[in-house]
Parts: sequence; structure tokens; C-alpha cells
Amino acid sequence: MPKDILKVVIIGDGGVGKTCLRNQFIHKRFTSSYKATIGADFITKDVHTDDGRKVTLQLWDTAGQERFQSLGVSYYRGADACCLVYDTTNFQTFHNLERWRADFLKQSSLPPDLLEDFPLILIGNKIDIDDRVVSRRQARAWAQQHSSPRMEIRCFEASAKDGTNVEEAFSCIAGMVKIPQ
Ligand code: GTP
Ligand code: MG
Repeated sequence: MPKDILKVVIIGDGGVGKTCLRNQFIHKRFTSSYKATIGADFITKDVHTDDGRKVTLQLWDTAGQERFQSLGVSYYRGADACCLVYDTTNFQTFHNLERWRADFLKQSSLPPDLLEDFPLILIGNKIDIDDRVVSRRQARAWAQQHSSPRMEIRCFEASAKDGTNVEEAFSCIAGMVKIPQ
């Protein structure tokens, strides 16, 4: 049976826009009030990959704020792909990607040979706001540093507010997952 439901976990600091990115992708809606996520849930959406496959993305969203985090292993278990999100206007959230990536690698309990291949993308959100502090070059350098010869981490600069690159980023991650036929 070809695997066609892909579990995608979205992680990053509180307030970077994980929930808004998912809402924009699924519902084409944006709200400017901030309500921190507590717990975790998923929403599914069917997408077509660039090479014409139809897959169902199961998009998992959870709390970025430390005081609400309690999920650990169960959130990451069985993940097929991971979106690391930072806020282009807040350097600390970019700096913390290292921690999020390490947490993911530790908790996902993937065998080392699979980790090398694991599909990851980087999303720099809130690009609609003028005062960016994380440059495109810095994001690319981070991605390059953490890519492996077999899996290139792609970087997107997106806006959950106006929709820039939201569809592109999630379609990209769907296309990166290798599905055994
Ligand atoms: P936690 O659930 O606490 O982990 O936060 P989160 O990463 O889910 O952030 P959320 O999506 O709730 O967004 C946080 C705040 O940033 C909200 O006030 C959003 O309206 C705002 N926001 C999110 N994305 C964007 C964006 O692309 N542009 C702008 N201008 N604001 C955004
Ligand atoms: Mg949230």
C-alpha cells in the first residue's frame, strides 16, 4: 500500500505564526489577535505534489511557548516531515531553531540513517512586516549547514497574513517525502 497520509509537524517559538500559517494554508484566513496554542492537534488537507501525486497532509500544530509544552515524544512520533518556523522580525526565534531541531532529532527517535534523509523545511514568517532582522542569506546559511548530501533543507520566506509562499512551502514539504511504492 503506498503511503499517502503524511504527518507533518510544525515547530518553532511561541508567536512565530505556526497556527496562522496553517490557518492560511487550510482556510485562507488570518487573524491578527494572538491566542497561544495549548496542547496539539492536526488538520488534514489533500495536495498535489509537483510530480503529480495526490497526498494527504496531516498538519500538526502545537505550543511554542515553553510553559505550554508537555507533548514531547508523542507529538513527534511517526512524523514524515518537519517545518521549522521562525519570525523574520525576531532574531531570537531564528537563534532558537537550533534548539527546536535538536529537540526534534532527539524526540523523533528516528534511526540515524533515516535522520540523514529526513525532510525538513525552514519557514521565515511575517515577511509582510518591514523591519526584518533575519536576512535571506542567514537563513540559507543555516539551511545549508544542516542539510545532508541526500536532503537539502529548503528555505521559504512567507507571510501567514497575506499568503506569500504559504502554499509553496507546504507543497514543497509534501514533495520531499519519499513514498515507498
Ligand atoms: P504559539 O501557539 O504560542 O506557539 O504561537 P504561534 O507560532 O502559533 O503563533 P500564531 O500563529 O498564534 O501568531 C502569533 C501572532 O503573530 C498573532 O498575533 C498573529 O496575528 C501574528 N502573525 C502570525 N503570522 C503573521 C504574519 O505572517 N504577518 C504578521 N504581520 N503577523 C503575523
Ligand atoms: Mg499556535
